[in-house]
Amino acid sequence: MNPAHVLQRHAIGTPMQDLLRATREQEGGAVFGPEKVPTAALPRPLLDFDGVSLEYATDQQVVRATHRVSLSVFEAERYVLLGPSGCGKSTLLKAAAGFIAPREGQIRLDGQAITGPGPDRIVVFQEFDQLPPWKTVLGNVMFPLRATGRLARAEALERAHAVLEQVGLADFANAYPHQLSGGMKQRVAIARALAMQPRVLLMDEPFASLDALTRRRMQEELLALWETVRFTLLFVTHSIEEALVVGSRIGVLSPHPGRLRAEIQAHEFGLGSSGGPAFQAATQRIHGLLFGPETPHP
Ligand SMILES: Nc1ncnc2c1ncn2[C@@H]1O[C@H](COP(=O)(O)OP(=O)(O)OP(=O)(O)O)[C@@H](O)[C@H]1O
Ligand SMILES: [Mg+2]
Repeated sequence: MNPAHVLQRHAIGTPMQDLLRATREQEGGAVFGPEKVPTAALPRPLLDFDGVSLEYATDQQVVRATHRVSLSVFEAERYVLLGPSGCGKSTLLKAAAGFIAPREGQIRLDGQAITGPGPDRIVVFQEFDQLPPWKTVLGNVMFPLRATGRLARAEALERAHAVLEQVGLADFANAYPHQLSGGMKQRVAIARALAMQPRVLLMDEPFASLDALTRRRMQEELLALWETVRFTLLFVTHSIEEALVVGSRIGVLSPHPGRLRAEIQAHEFGLGSSGGPAFQAATQRIHGLLFGPETPHP
């Protein structure tokens, strides 16, 4: 079993511990606290947010997007950041990508502070127009592989074909983005990201602009891909259902500025469980955490 699945939360502040403990006691164990942590057995997190406050400075004011967020993502986890609009989910992802620096705290990859973007962290965005339209599907997947200078053309070509096969787009290698549906474009964006073999795949509401059926199919495909490749995923959504389906663990953020309210184990849920009682109970629990009363913060 992936050790991340049996990990317990650690290193969180006292009010959060109280909330987690109380919630766990009420709800029968899916929200977890620090006292069960076998600290010595914990592997080092792959991606570590340590007291991360993020801000945007405009001419008029400074906007605090997140406040002292601490969370750890372990190898091969599917960690979902869930929270209401404006709580700083995208900002956390951009900071992990290295596009913005924390005002407070640190984000580390493999124990090393992140100081800028790198090929070890690739972002898939929500928008369908993230693919250069003048490049074919194959060209789009090849481009970053060649641009980083890591692979010779033949190797890049081989890897691009392999990953297009994995996402079911082998027959569309020579198509242009405008010839594809929204869902197919997202698959190309995912293929392009996976081809880079990043340490962490960062996804910012990648399926939010898709119709409900396509969105579900994309979730299914993403989980199937994960079963094959076992990549580490940090996935942003504001859909509770999507968080439970896609995530193995969920970080629930408070409204603006985002603070980590709780972490919830979700690996027991998949696409098949979305109507079931346990799924409904988890949905209700998260709903309460998102929209329930505020708790004191450090
Ligand atoms: N470029 C920017 N300049 C100034 N403020 C910004 C900027 N981008 C985001 N913000 C502010 O930071 C906060 C967090 O924004 P962010 O985009 O991270 O939220 P989000 O959780 O991703 O929301 P959504 O679910 O709507 O995508 C918001 O209050 C937003 O107004
Ligand atoms: Mg966002």
